[in-house]
Amino acid sequence: METKVKVVDENNIDIRILQEAGKVFRSGGLVAFPTETVYGLGANALDSEAVKKIFEAKGRPQDNPLIVHISDLDSIKNLTKVVPPIAEDLMRNFWPGPLTLILPKSDLVPEVTSAGLDSIGIRMPSNRIALELIRTAGVPIAAPSANISGRPSPTDVNRCVEDLNGKIDYIIGGNICEVGVESTIVDCTVYPPCVLRPGGITLEMLKKIDSEIYIDPAIMNKSNESFIPKAPGMKYRHYAPKAPLKIIQGDLQKTIAKVNEMVQNYMDEGKKVGIMATDETLYYYKNGIIISLGSRDDMKLVAQNLFEALRSFDDKKVDIILSESFEEIGLGIAVMNRLKKSAGFDIIKV
Ligand code: TXA
Ligand code: MG
Repeated sequence: METKVKVVDENNIDIRILQEAGKVFRSGGLVAFPTETVYGLGANALDSEAVKKIFEAKGRPQDNPLIVHISDLDSIKNLTKVVPPIAEDLMRNFWPGPLTLILPKSDLVPEVTSAGLDSIGIRMPSNRIALELIRTAGVPIAAPSANISGRPSPTDVNRCVEDLNGKIDYIIGGNICEVGVESTIVDCTVYPPCVLRPGGITLEMLKKIDSEIYIDPAIMNKSNESFIPKAPGMKYRHYAPKAPLKIIQGDLQKTIAKVNEMVQNYMDEGKKVGIMATDETLYYYKNGIIISLGSRDDMKLVAQNLFEALRSFDDKKVDIILSESFEEIGLGIAVMNRLKKSAGFDIIKV
């Protein structure tokens, strides 16, 4: 299949490109597009044959439900059975934006989209290209992240092309994905609402709306019988670069010393080592291929750079990646969740 790739300027949108892509959606095709979190791989959420193609293109497990993207609040009525008041409050405060709400699913949404669950994830993205594209398509758009299953999510159009060229109909490129990690998912089918995946809308922000909201304790730990995450997708190894990743966690001075020692040992074995550093620590590493995620004082930038850094280590063909860790507050919760999953929970405490 030939994949059409077109880049759109978010500040000067060429509506003809979005109209063309909208037509692809309506005729059952797949389009990758930018959102403020990561790139999405979309299909008409109400067309089960189209949705099946998403699972094929990504190599996604069938039991992992998709998030439905909408451009106006009216669409919710058709997709859900009821909308509890807390969900309305969250929408009012954080939509459009990086927040997905899990709600009771209506019968209109096909089983493939929700992977057989009786609930559905819905989100209204704030990225202007995404919003305009959904509006132009005129149908709700089911969209997982636009990566091959298991790989780090794409935050740059070139990474979409890398993973999906030849497998889908259309790729729309846009400006940088400013959040850089996937949306926060809040389950509103239960009370108190439960965060199933941390993201750009932080727990602190959610608690201002309802102080009862809490994070699913299973998601910061390795899954086992007592810790099964409520979002099916959170149980898989994920966001993984090709090289194994280890997290060094603890005091920063001790982290630097441990990383330097480990790098030396790996180099003695003839291995190429990548170091995921920060602006504060960058110059203390003696060897290795070093990428800084940005300053520790700017967690927004750290989150934005995370997936691209993981993918760049693959380009540089490192044999192993050592990463610093971050404090688990604010956006640090989302960053550490993605890092731990990338590392398969391989954490060395110092
Ligand atoms: O930011 C995002 O949410 C991006 C962009 C493209 O919008 N999308 C995204 O989709 O991250 P995906 O498919 O990569 O992740 C969706 C996650 C999975 O972990 C899935 O299991 C969970 O959402 N999920 C979807 N529907 C659910 C439901 N009804 N109940 C529980 N978890 C659900
Ligand atoms: Mg994903």
